[in-house]
Amino acid sequence: MRTTVGIVGAGPAGLLLARLLHVAGIDSVVLESRDRAYAENRQRAGILEQGTADVLRAAGAGERMDRTGLRHDGIELRFAGRRHRVDFPALTGGRSVTVYAQTEVCKDLIALQLAQGGPLLFEAEALAVEDAATDRPRVRFRHEGVEDVLECDYVVGCDGFRGVARTAFPAAVTRVFERTYPFGWLGILADVPPSHDELVYARHARGFALLSMRSPSVSRLYLQVPQGTDAREWADEAIWDELDRRLATDDGWKLERGPITQKSVTAMRSHVHEPMRHGRLFLAGDAAHIVPPTGAKGLNLAVGDVVTFARALTHQRDTGSSALLDAYSATCLRRVWQAERFSCDMTALLHPAPGATPFEERLQLARLERIAASRAAETDLAEGYTGFSFD
Ligand code: DHB
Repeated sequence: MRTTVGIVGAGPAGLLLARLLHVAGIDSVVLESRDRAYAENRQRAGILEQGTADVLRAAGAGERMDRTGLRHDGIELRFAGRRHRVDFPALTGGRSVTVYAQTEVCKDLIALQLAQGGPLLFEAEALAVEDAATDRPRVRFRHEGVEDVLECDYVVGCDGFRGVARTAFPAAVTRVFERTYPFGWLGILADVPPSHDELVYARHARGFALLSMRSPSVSRLYLQVPQGTDAREWADEAIWDELDRRLATDDGWKLERGPITQKSVTAMRSHVHEPMRHGRLFLAGDAAHIVPPTGAKGLNLAVGDVVTFARALTHQRDTGSSALLDAYSATCLRRVWQAERFSCDMTALLHPAPGATPFEERLQLARLERIAASRAAETDLAEGYTGFSFD
């Protein structure tokens, strides 16, 4: 098999890249190790920055998002029993975010790709990316029990943190930057209308809690839990009781309970792989960088990467200049590090670290007070949350 762009992985990065290339008239083949049901049901975050929603629309993939996604003009911060609303459009010159689950984005892009795009192979496991430093990189893969080779002009590794693409980078050119956190998030989906019409980020001495949603009838909630927690340790009633404690306010707000339909624990880490390009192999999304979930930047960063790649390759085709492809890693990493900074700051702002001193606890509260009291501090949060430009 031969193609212009071999794409490893059919998460949002790989699927959107295939779509952007298709729209630009560039052919690609997508290899995904899992089956379609798995790719369509992975539960991830659900907040699309304004720029992400705009890219999906421009790619012809925004119809269902515009019909069923929820536009959110703010979030609520809760701390010390108080509530403070951050008004995004007022602070950012009109920007907002869209609540639309990543898994729905994937379903939309898979349907489009299968109907209109190039080959998208499920249960096609990439085994290795070879000859990345030559002008004929290849992906060795196994599909339906048979080994095969995909010959490409370019390979884009969209195969996540545990994928094979980044293992093709020589150790001598690679630098990894990382941080782990001594806690994770226990996440639930529940069949109950969200108890607030916007997301609530709560800092409590017992730990962080987040109230989010998937639709007007489905709530998504998270609790900070110690690293290594097994979701089965948490009975449903215990989860609701703990959410009640951490989300409690002084003004009698009430959390509605409902049947929990899913429960899982997300580990938290920051990770950046530099550079994001080696020869004709490019990394995009989680293959290159992981952010802690606070602020929901992961999907939006992946979108920034593939937009950058698709633009750069189109520029090369149209002008013969490889300048944008050559700048890919540096261009992406500027945005990646802003998102790493934002996600770390949001995490530090809202999660009491195990063993934190009383001094650190007071500082955390003072930072929240500052956001509530200063338009400048609040604007910084609103700009980061609604997203950094793709340009
Ligand atoms: C969701 C996840 C996040 O990490 C976040 O900051 C907001 C919302 C979610 O899954 O809905």
